Amino acid sequence: MTRELPASALYESPALGRLWKNVYQACSPFLQRPSIRRLYQQPAPLLRKKLRLPYTCVALGCADGAKESLLLEKMSPPACLWTADINLPLARRAASRLPAQKRSAYRVDLTTRLPSWFTRLPGPRLITLFGVIPNLDPLPLLRRISRIMLPNDYLLLSANLAPGRSGLAGTRRILPQYDNEPTRVWLEEAVRRYRPSLPTGKLVFGVFPDPRQKSLARVEARWLARTGNWVVFASRRPTSLQVESWIRLAHLERVARFLDPRGEEGLWLVTAAKA
Ligand SMILES: C[S@@+](CC[C@H](N)C(=O)[O-])C[C@H]1O[C@@H](n2cnc3c(N)ncnc32)[C@H](O)[C@@H]1O
Repeated sequence: MTRELPASALYESPALGRLWKNVYQACSPFLQRPSIRRLYQQPAPLLRKKLRLPYTCVALGCADGAKESLLLEKMSPPACLWTADINLPLARRAASRLPAQKRSAYRVDLTTRLPSWFTRLPGPRLITLFGVIPNLDPLPLLRRISRIMLPNDYLLLSANLAPGRSGLAGTRRILPQYDNEPTRVWLEEAVRRYRPSLPTGKLVFGVFPDPRQKSLARVEARWLARTGNWVVFASRRPTSLQVESWIRLAHLERVARFLDPRGEEGLWLVTAAKA
């Protein structure tokens, strides 16, 4: 049987957050490719037209807010900003770097019900969800967010995509973005800290079908031990069509889509579907 560590076990502690940040600095396409950084500014003109002022920005799973910072540079600053992540020091760093008249940072676990303060935030709200759906089960997460969205709210979400037509073959091409030294250091430390302790083993990377959606490709780092296997890390690489089917199933409606030229990353601007 293959068991799975929750994504929070890789990010929640400040020490693991710092190791993840090393991975991000060494390997992130966002830092390496200007076209990906431009992608995060592309929705700004449309949002400037559509989003009523004053608005609240809610940055979910924002880490230190680097992507939100690029977007908000091109927009009027929000009246209120709420940054939320399982790693509170990262959420605080995001709150301090992003422009806003009023700001707060929270520790939030996005795998559970969203906190009640969320529904009381002044609208309209721009919710950002960058780089989170690769790690957390996308459809339940989008459904939880969709339930609290009001008619003038917008959700801007990003997905790391499987390049090309075949999810599994396309994802194998980008495996070196994951199977590298800084990622191993981060994940091996997460295994060492995990409780109950995992037995002695080794970390192996590969591409597998998602257990909940067989046509969806996942990069996995598995901990192989004599007594069993654990999925330590999983990153989903959907096709654009798969992202759009989650959007519809979560009762959301696509307003616009922005894709990077290589087809490895995409942004979707969505709103609550009309009843
Ligand atoms: C791959 S990183 C993306 C960070 C940033 N948004 C970006 O795109 O660069 C995933 C983020 O989700 C956060 N995260 C992971 N599991 C979470 C959970 N259960 N609840 C809330 N945040 C979580 C991590 O702390 C991390 O900041």
